[in-house]
Amino acid sequence: MKKSYLTIITLILLFLSISGCGTYGQASPSGDAGRQSQGGDDEQLITVGFSQVGAESDWRNINTDSMKESFCPENGYDLIYDDGQQKQHNQITAIRTFIQKDVDYIVLAPVIEDGWDTVLTEARDADIPVILVDRMVNVNDPDLFTCWVGSDFELEGSKVCEWLNGFCRANHISGSDINIVNIKGTEGASAELGRSKALRTAVNKYGWNLLDERSGEFTQAKGREVMTQFLKQHKNINVVYSENDNEAFGAIEAIEAEGRKVGSDIKHGEIMVLAFDGTSDQAVEAVRSGRITCIGECNPLHGPRVEKIIRNLSEGIVPDKYEYVDEGIFSADESVNSVIIDGVSYGVRVP
Ligand code: AHR
Repeated sequence: MKKSYLTIITLILLFLSISGCGTYGQASPSGDAGRQSQGGDDEQLITVGFSQVGAESDWRNINTDSMKESFCPENGYDLIYDDGQQKQHNQITAIRTFIQKDVDYIVLAPVIEDGWDTVLTEARDADIPVILVDRMVNVNDPDLFTCWVGSDFELEGSKVCEWLNGFCRANHISGSDINIVNIKGTEGASAELGRSKALRTAVNKYGWNLLDERSGEFTQAKGREVMTQFLKQHKNINVVYSENDNEAFGAIEAIEAEGRKVGSDIKHGEIMVLAFDGTSDQAVEAVRSGRITCIGECNPLHGPRVEKIIRNLSEGIVPDKYEYVDEGIFSADESVNSVIIDGVSYGVRVP
């Protein structure tokens, strides 16, 4: 009896896999990576294992959609997608699963920079090219990955800091009157390291007071929690440097819950919110209404870029080792028209 049940289940599973009834796979900490639906002849599809950071932000969800849309069967791919739930050990397990499945390519969006040497060596030993997307890894041997595509996070931070300096100059506010807190992203992630570094550089350069720094883990809930603590401990905050939009949304909730107002009129008690990404409708609306005063753009649409890299690799074309994407800066405040970093001018736009 038990045996015949097993036979029926096996037949059903076989039917489902042949008939292409699968859906996008979801994360599993066990590394049981899911497979995107497969239409047609599997033999001809390029198999790609994608280890995503998680679903912590609007940016991340748009990035996931972009990857899934690009690596679809219609484009010639069999995508095995794994959500790492912001945990490096889940991502390492996913990569090992991809190696066991002998995928053609591994795409990794690493949650943090350190700690990848061993598993990337395993991928190299298995002859599977690894393409990094979004954040970077810090490894002893750069040949452990084929190439990387993503953002210059320090440049993003410098744009926002230069914008704040321009705002101060235009409105006759001294650097020593800026009392700023930093809601950092996930500690050790490239996006956190780069944006925090830019802030520290500007703090030293312009004499701002950096009152506190704590991680909001790139989420709205944690952003609210951290900002609530900051408001309790520091009564003179007038600028919040929030390392992504979702943390900024949480910070705004916390500020308003305290009966304070967000906005650029810091001379009259408003708290200015600065952020990064600018991807969701909510963020665009927040900039237009002035609730977020300035956003350093972070572009999440990496799917077509990574797909092009893999297509080229399949045809024997060697990609550039590092590919930085173009990004801008958004504000509805008219104090600053453009910012200049390393001799390059970036126009400030209303999104
Ligand atoms: O690495 C990119 C960052 O990660 C984005 O700014 C953030 O929203 C995401 O979670």
